[in-house]
Amino acid sequence: MTPSSTTGREATRSSGEELILTAQGVRRSFGGLTAVDVDEFTVRKGTITALIGPNGAGKSTFFNVLTGFDRADAGTWTLDGRDVTGLPAYRLARQGMVRTFQLTRSLADLTLVENVLLAAPGQRGEGMGGALFGRRSWRRQERSNTERARELLARFGLDRMAEQPAGVLSGGQRKLLEMARALMCEPRLLLLDEPMAGVNPRLVETLLEHVRQVRAEGTTILFVEHDMDVVVDISDDVVCMAFGTVLATGTPAEVMRDPEVIDAYLGSDEADDETARLARRGHQA
Ligand SMILES: Nc1ncnc2c1ncn2[C@@H]1O[C@H](COP(=O)(O)OP(=O)(O)OP(=O)(O)O)[C@@H](O)[C@H]1O
Ligand SMILES: [Mg+2]
Repeated sequence: MTPSSTTGREATRSSGEELILTAQGVRRSFGGLTAVDVDEFTVRKGTITALIGPNGAGKSTFFNVLTGFDRADAGTWTLDGRDVTGLPAYRLARQGMVRTFQLTRSLADLTLVENVLLAAPGQRGEGMGGALFGRRSWRRQERSNTERARELLARFGLDRMAEQPAGVLSGGQRKLLEMARALMCEPRLLLLDEPMAGVNPRLVETLLEHVRQVRAEGTTILFVEHDMDVVVDISDDVVCMAFGTVLATGTPAEVMRDPEVIDAYLGSDEADDETARLARRGHQA
């Protein structure tokens, strides 16, 4: 932790701001490599929070652990004050925490609408519950789920392709499909792993607008992003990771001015690009 960038903010954080996500002492190792070693991590409710850091910093692993796609070796975490440590992804989704992946995971052979429907919560048609629930209400629920899936596809400009297999989509469209699928669960906290990566620059602004809109509807957003312009543009808070640990937490300007953060990028492959941008952004901010 960097005292200069965290002390003041931690004080505000502890004095009554509502935290939707907190994590303490989260560790994950692969063999001899400690991929994640996070002492303290928080996300304020209602914010767009960016998780930045050079390649291999542990961002995706941290996401995987928090969202139940990987197990932690140690640590605890809470969602809205409730301990959700180690819960599997489907249970977290029911509690309002949903994530997308750095590499999109749409099922290529299923249609877009089927892809979105897969994420529908409370599939009452399945199992004993479905039998007891009755065929008619099951159909009604399926109809309303399908309607909602189509609305979401329309929202992301994918409605004309609703019946086409997801395999035909471009990289950017797949990111939009992932967002649609995540929103099907009506999340309170949405985690996006590099939502803009591989997206045509013309689509980036659209995607950003969608992210802002989702937040305006009351969903907190935690997203991993490499593009510092994007980070400055839409984030309230920024957390920088390197070598598995949290280096700095604060406003975009605070974090980008932090010498430890700049050092972390200097030592990475992205140094030329990102350090120059960090320095420029930190200077402007
Ligand atoms: N399943 C795994 N087995 C072994 N090592 C892994 C595994 N997953 C991640 N790692 C290692 O853990 C470290 C953190 O990786 P991670 O993917 O979390 O980084 P990241 O910050 O998301 O990087 P990027 O910006 O490139 O996506 C890296 O050194 C990576 O090689
Ligand atoms: Mg990653």
